[in-house]
Amino acid sequence: MPDAYILGIESSCDETSAAVVRSGEETLSNIVASQIALHQPYGGVVPELASREHLRAMVPVVREALAKAGRTYTDLDAIAVTQGPGLAGALLVGISFTKALAFALDKPLIAVNHLEGHIHAVLLEERQKGNHAVNFPVLALVVSGGHTHLYLAEQNADTWSYENVGHTRDDAAGEAFDKVAKLLGLGYPGGPVIDRLAPHGDPTAVKFTISQMKHPDRNDRNKNDRNKAANPNQHFDFSYSGIKTGVLRYVETHNMREAADARHRALSAIAKPKLEDYLAHCDREVLNVVASFQRAVVEDLVSKTLTAARACEAATLFVTGGVAANSELRATFERQAAMEGLHVFFPSRPLSTDNAAMIAAAAYPKFLAKQFAAADFCAEPGLALR
Ligand code: KG4
Ligand code: ZN
Repeated sequence: MPDAYILGIESSCDETSAAVVRSGEETLSNIVASQIALHQPYGGVVPELASREHLRAMVPVVREALAKAGRTYTDLDAIAVTQGPGLAGALLVGISFTKALAFALDKPLIAVNHLEGHIHAVLLEERQKGNHAVNFPVLALVVSGGHTHLYLAEQNADTWSYENVGHTRDDAAGEAFDKVAKLLGLGYPGGPVIDRLAPHGDPTAVKFTISQMKHPDRNDRNKNDRNKAANPNQHFDFSYSGIKTGVLRYVETHNMREAADARHRALSAIAKPKLEDYLAHCDREVLNVVASFQRAVVEDLVSKTLTAARACEAATLFVTGGVAANSELRATFERQAAMEGLHVFFPSRPLSTDNAAMIAAAAYPKFLAKQFAAADFCAEPGLALR
């Protein structure tokens, strides 16, 4: 099979990204223009602003991706774009741009599910390291600002398929990180800040509990069930809105609100706060809340995922998405999966969060299978992965 160069485009949330990837195994370029600074004053992503910023950044980002890869438009074999899930207006910018480009260049167009992209971020980097063999069944935890999903992934020739065996019933884990950081006056996005502050607090100081879902027959899941369509009773679900409320209650009962507002004002006045700036504005109580919150979420993610891995008899575990960048999550997964003889793979940190290389990598099997998008395909903000 000759090499195939795919231009990937991602605009589902607050990152405008373009990448050139060769045959799903070599990243020639992966340009990410982050909108964090734009949304920071609002403490979260403002959809309308995100769409406008994608429109502004798209052409320069794509030009930079091609220049860095040393390729021209005519070198491309296909163009891939995120179809969903994501913010409707943000997705439409990437899709409209990609359709126009594919039409003008007369190149095949490939629509990619963003969540499949996160899974292929792991595969891309493993192939890049020369590791082409994956032991199935693969269980993938996709954990980000918008999602906390568990998928069993199968590969048949060039076709990948996915069975959802768990998801969050309410907030995604990343959303809980972002909301808790906002509550404590630590700014947006919350995950990276909490990650860096947590080692400075005592993770056993505050007992935050996480809701446990009732799964009457989840232990009944057997080998024969593995290929069946998901049964709602066989899910390994998550829930993070309760812990967010738990932190809110703690902040209120311990009179921490006023100090959090002052912290927010002080940190907002610093252009790019460093760890020392955060530490200078956090007392022991705040650091303890941060460390205890992170410990509770990490333990819940790891224990539920490993329970699912055991029940599904997974041979390999992927942990991917923005929250997979978390240091404590990585260390805990590595330690506990090793005790069960389970191999766990993470993307590098830049490939954990949203990027277009993962979209171009996920598009490659579709390119081989000639699964091209129809000219009238549209954005699907709630697109499910199957
Ligand atoms: O995958 P991603 O870039 O976008 C979505 O598809 O949602 O994930 C962004 C999410 C945010 O909630 C952010 O706070 C979280 O990932 N995140 C982290 C870390 N880095 C990013 N959460 C915990 N620890 C981190 N180091
Ligand atoms: Zn994502």
